[in-house]
Amino acid sequence: KQLLLLNGPNLNLLGVREPDIYGAVTLQDIEQQVEEVCQRHGWKVKAFQSNHEGELIDQIHQARHDVAGIVFNPGAYTHTSVALRDAIASVGLPVIEVHLSNVHQRETFRHTSYIAPVAWGQVVGLGAMGYVLATQAFINQYS
Ligand code: DQA
Repeated sequence: KQLLLLNGPNLNLLGVREPDIYGAVTLQDIEQQVEEVCQRHGWKVKAFQSNHEGELIDQIHQARHDVAGIVFNPGAYTHTSVALRDAIASVGLPVIEVHLSNVHQRETFRHTSYIAPVAWGQVVGLGAMGYVLATQAFINQYS
């Protein structure tokens, strides 16, 4: 089985970017942690980050061929992108939406997610651990 670990805009700057909100952890650390969990259970991981909406859509489309589920932090596109939501609905793959920060504690524009209605589940506010928990959920459900 294979998992797609998908990260959206500005998440390449984790560790540097607003560390008071997002912490010191880097995207590389997160990808490594997810890979470790997957390896332990015989799952593969395809990790991809992009700052471009269309590239994220392309990855979601491609995932329908060889992926069991998507762990997805869409970054700010969470709150804006009908196109990403439609991509998820189009492929019909289970998606867990992850946010490092507790978006509900922050500005009102972060309280709305276009992704949540088409996601299997959501993990918010638990930092890097959220990605690990989402990964574990896929392994538990689909192994
Ligand atoms: C985020 C929350 C979003 O509101 C923000 O735009 C991000 C990161 C998070 O992981 O907490 O880029 O998705």
